[in-house]
Amino acid sequence: MKLEDITIEVASEKHLIYVEKILTSIEEAAQVRGTGIARRKPEYISRKMLEAKAVIALYGQEFAGFSYIETWEHKSYVTTSGLIVRPEFRGLGIAKKIKDMTFSLARTRWPKAKIFSLTSGAAVMAMNTRLGYKPVTFAELTTDEAFWKGCEGCVNVDVLKRTDRKYCICTGMLFDPEEHLPAKIPQEVLDRIAELDKEDETND
Ligand SMILES: CC(C)(COP(=O)(O)OP(=O)(O)OC[C@H]1O[C@@H](n2cnc3c(N)ncnc32)[C@H](O)[C@@H]1OP(=O)(O)O)[C@@H](O)C(=O)NCCC(=O)NCCS
Repeated sequence: MKLEDITIEVASEKHLIYVEKILTSIEEAAQVRGTGIARRKPEYISRKMLEAKAVIALYGQEFAGFSYIETWEHKSYVTTSGLIVRPEFRGLGIAKKIKDMTFSLARTRWPKAKIFSLTSGAAVMAMNTRLGYKPVTFAELTTDEAFWKGCEGCVNVDVLKRTDRKYCICTGMLFDPEEHLPAKIPQEVLDRIAELDKEDETND
C-alpha cells in the first residue's frame, strides 16, 4: 500500500457511515497510549462532517484516518483535533496529509484565528512545528471553558487542576497568523479598517 492509494478529502454527508468506526479507532488508540481524550458523541462527529469541518482518509471504501476542526472563543481560536490513523495505515504520511488539509481548511475559513494544539504526541509536535506552530505557555491558549472541559477525560487532569491550568503533561503550541505577516499593522489602523468594512457592508 502506498500514500497515492489513499484518498484524503474534506468529509461530507456521504462519510456519515464511518462515524462509529472513527470513534472506536480513537478510543482504541487512546487506550494503547494510556492517555485520555476529549470523548465525542457520534452526533458531534456527524455534525463536523456536515459542516465541512472534518477530513477523512480512505483506502477504497476502507476507513484509514480522520481529524476534525473546532473553534473556540467566538472563532478567535481554532484547533485541529482527534487526529487518528488506523494502525495498519501508519508510517505512510497519511497523518501529515490530513493535518495539512485541516490546517489549510482552518486558515482559509478563519484567516484571523490563532490555531493551537495541546498534545503529548511526538508526531503531532513534528507536524505542528513544520507548519509554523511555536511552543507556548498555557496562558497563550484559549480561555474557553468548553475547550478545557475536553481535558476532563484525561488521566493527567489532576496535574492541570493542581497547577491552576498553568502546566500539564501536554505541550501547548500556537500558530499566530499575525506572526506570519512581514509587517505589523497598528491597532488603530485595524480599528479604522473594521469601521470602513462596516460602512462597506451597509452600502452593499
Ligand atoms: C500519530 C499518528 C496520527 C501518526 O500517523 P501516521 O500516518 O503514521 O503519521 P505520518 O506518517 O503522516 O507521519 C507524520 C510525522 O510524524 C512523525 N511520526 C509518526 N509517528 C511517530 C511516532 N510514533 N513518534 C514520533 N514521530 C512520529 C513522522 O516521522 C512524520 O514526521 P516528519 O514529517 O517530520 O517526518 C498515528 O500514529 C495515530 O493515529 N496514533 C494514535 C492517535 C494519536 O496519537 N493521535 C494524536 C493525538 S495528539
